[in-house]
Amino acid sequence: MLIPIEGVLSSDEVRQFRQRLDAADWQDGAKTAGSLARAVKHNLQIDDGSALAVELGNHVLRRLAAQPLFVSAALPRRVYPPKFNRYTGGGTYGTHIDSALMQVPGTDITVRSDLSATLFLSEPEEYDGGELQIDGPFGVQAVKLPAGDLVLYPSSSLHRVTPVTRGARVASFFWIESMVREDAQRALLFDLDQSIQALTPLAAPDDPHLVRLTGVYHNLLRRWAST
Ligand code: NI
Repeated sequence: MLIPIEGVLSSDEVRQFRQRLDAADWQDGAKTAGSLARAVKHNLQIDDGSALAVELGNHVLRRLAAQPLFVSAALPRRVYPPKFNRYTGGGTYGTHIDSALMQVPGTDITVRSDLSATLFLSEPEEYDGGELQIDGPFGVQAVKLPAGDLVLYPSSSLHRVTPVTRGARVASFFWIESMVREDAQRALLFDLDQSIQALTPLAAPDDPHLVRLTGVYHNLLRRWAST
């Protein structure tokens, strides 16, 4: 399931991020790719340990924690510290799959990548190409969102970023280990939760059907979640 989340960052926040990122020290992204992905990865990244990456990454995490849609969709258990990349001058990332297990640098914490996230920091009209293409059960889905918006997609899917032929595509990207490991189970919980949220203002607070549906949600979560 592919879930867009609008307005994770405001336009003011995007502007501040970009002022600082555009002036930052960018390095060859191939350094941090796995052996297969290295051959197809042609972009730039900021050193994860830099003060800038840590500060901006923490800001993204605080915004996400306050996004009910993100929490409902991802049911996050752990989030890998957000990273930052930049594609320009034909930069591209060919078809690959993200590593399943990622050690958080400088810690003994390993994050299993259940969901991948891309937070767009360039407006679509700033660059040509640079689509995030995700292979799914219904074919290829192309994603290019306004700056400040984020897309969540299953880390189990093959994906790529098409060459950026004009301008620059700046983004933050990271991975989420979910309390519910299976995408299909998480998708059912998300649908159920979203419907309950939509029905709640229409029903009486003690509506027995809504109470029962809420019970179903929690009992499925109890069955499927690990903490
Ligand atoms: Ni990837």
